[in-house]
Amino acid sequence: RNLELEQQLQAHEWTSKLYHFLLKNTEHGKPAMDYLKSRGFTDKAIDTFQIGYAPARWDTLVQFLEKRSFDLGTMEKGGLLSSKQDGTGYVDRFRDRVIFPLHNRNGKVIAFAGRVLGEGQPKYLNSPESKLFSKSRTLYNLHQAKAEIRKSRQIVLFEGYGDVISAWEAGVHNGVATMGTALTESHAAMMRGLADEVIVCYDGDNAGQAAALKSIPILESLGFTAKIALLSEGMDPDEFIQKHGAERFKHQVLDGAVSSVKFKLIYLKKNHILLEEDGKVAYIKDALEVIAPLPSPTEREIYLKEMSADLQVSFDSLKQECNEMRQAMQ
Ligand code: GTP
Ligand code: MN
Ligand code: MN
Ligand code: MN
Ligand code: MN
Repeated sequence: RNLELEQQLQAHEWTSKLYHFLLKNTEHGKPAMDYLKSRGFTDKAIDTFQIGYAPARWDTLVQFLEKRSFDLGTMEKGGLLSSKQDGTGYVDRFRDRVIFPLHNRNGKVIAFAGRVLGEGQPKYLNSPESKLFSKSRTLYNLHQAKAEIRKSRQIVLFEGYGDVISAWEAGVHNGVATMGTALTESHAAMMRGLADEVIVCYDGDNAGQAAALKSIPILESLGFTAKIALLSEGMDPDEFIQKHGAERFKHQVLDGAVSSVKFKLIYLKKNHILLEEDGKVAYIKDALEVIAPLPSPTEREIYLKEMSADLQVSFDSLKQECNEMRQAMQ
């Protein structure tokens, strides 16, 4: 057993409790609490996700950890403190930020994400990568969602903290987040065994949709059925829930999630200019590349029929081109 790691874990647990306490019970925490309330976070959510506040001063945590006899160098390596520029000591890493604790799958706090109150850069400050914390191997909220994931055999995959939390409040308890946009193979490997289906519910902006597209082969290569939830332009799941409510989120967005093939076709269509002939031809070629490899002839036929009606191109010519492509693939 690694003593340094044990101490870092213990310090994270304490720190998480400290920040949560400061948010809920102090004058210093009031602006952060107001910010969270203005975003629609309830007291229940704040408790369930152990949300906290790191005060603006430079030594809140330094003093707290020193008092508990933690070695500050070890704490710096664990990502809780930063070295002073002149090398004479340590300061708090997180200052004047709303704090989201990040847990490993066993529920131990291993890192923090700190959000600015309102506007500011960086929007989120994370703990650095360390022996304790690797972003590409951490799924936000997996420890709490595990039980519901096992029961439903399904995971809802989000980009961000707010999305997971709002969805939780909407009654969606199998949500986890990749904390940014890139799903890694390690993430997918962590989910394997727990679920059969993943609903990718990324933001409705270009970055989110591009990331959803990239997640499909990663999920499918591990045997998951991937579905993609579609959100109107520029909205993320959190904003959708705050604006339209839980019911519409569950029954319109999640129940309406489309198959990975359908999503690829929608994505391609959005990225071609179909008013021009060469745009239409290019779209058809790209779309057929998605449809041609499908093993089921009826599935191919369904998509080709939809395309034929949609683009006013004969079904026969689409089918012929699709078959030629299949032969070329063999
Ligand atoms: P809110 O504005 O608080 O609702 O954030 P968001 O989750 O909607 O942010 P966004 O869609 O821009 O990004 C999705 C996720 O990427 C966030 O929840 C973070 O995990 C991560 N992220 C976004 N911005 C930053 C950043 O500046 N630094 C880091 N480290 N992570 C970020
Ligand atoms: Mn961003
Ligand atoms: Mn985003
Ligand atoms: Mn977002
Ligand atoms: Mn958001």
